[in-house]
Amino acid sequence: MIPEMDPRHAILFEPVKIGPVTAPNRFYQTPHATGFGWQRPQSGAALRGVKAEGGWGVVCTEYCSIHPSSDDSPYAFLTMWDDDDIAPLAATADAIHAHGSLAGIELWHGGFHASNRMTRVPGIGPQVQPAMYHLPTTARAMDKADIRAFRGWQRDAAKRAKQAGFDIVYVYAGHDYLPFQFLSRRICCAKCWKTRAKRWVTPAPWRSGWRWTNSTGQTASAPTMRAAMWWPCSPNCRTCGM
Ligand SMILES: Cc1cc2nc3c(=O)[nH]c(=O)nc-3n(C[C@H](O)[C@H](O)[C@H](O)COP(=O)(O)O)c2cc1C
Repeated sequence: MIPEMDPRHAILFEPVKIGPVTAPNRFYQTPHATGFGWQRPQSGAALRGVKAEGGWGVVCTEYCSIHPSSDDSPYAFLTMWDDDDIAPLAATADAIHAHGSLAGIELWHGGFHASNRMTRVPGIGPQVQPAMYHLPTTARAMDKADIRAFRGWQRDAAKRAKQAGFDIVYVYAGHDYLPFQFLSRRICCAKCWKTRAKRWVTPAPWRSGWRWTNSTGQTASAPTMRAAMWWPCSPNCRTCGM
């Protein structure tokens, strides 16, 4: 005998509008990596399809790089670098849609987190900074042209994601990746941060009209996120030595 549902849980099974799309229920699978990455698109699609079949109203991909300057090799990540990436990712969107769920994709630039072991492209970040994890590489500081280019990569990847059939497109602005690096005061001392914020952050992402969505699906406008990310800076900044 199937036990009756507690009426307090009924809301979980109601459709919910997210911007212009409607999820069939409130079970939301946030972006998470699988180990399949761009190398194994059919496995990735099958896994996301099983999740949709199991009832998740929204099923998201893992982090999906927008440009070769954000290469997390040897870890398994997705890529949306050019039109050739559309078809493999469309297989994932199709597998999710086959069960009536919404498909989300998480567009990612790692900034100084990315060592670019495969692409060998020099890393980029808001300032000159050693790569965080892997090889002893160093990210160069982005200038205005780089910031413009970054926004273009983000836009192009979002358009391709739409072409692939995704319903929800993230800008990955958490976990210390590139947009977060621009927002965070932690990575540098107050003096550096203020200079950088004045020169780069204010004219670039703030005013672009982005809606920031974190990995739990919450959205906020950039200024709100800025307040949320206000962090005491380290007394010994390793970048400027202040
Ligand atoms: C193996 C693994 C991979 C993950 N990969 C991503 C990712 O690619 N992008 C992301 O935003 N969050 C990623 N996350 C974070 C999850 O989306 C989620 O926020 C986190 O696991 C907390 O939720 P939970 O308490 O339900 O596990 C990952 C988490 C795990 C455990």
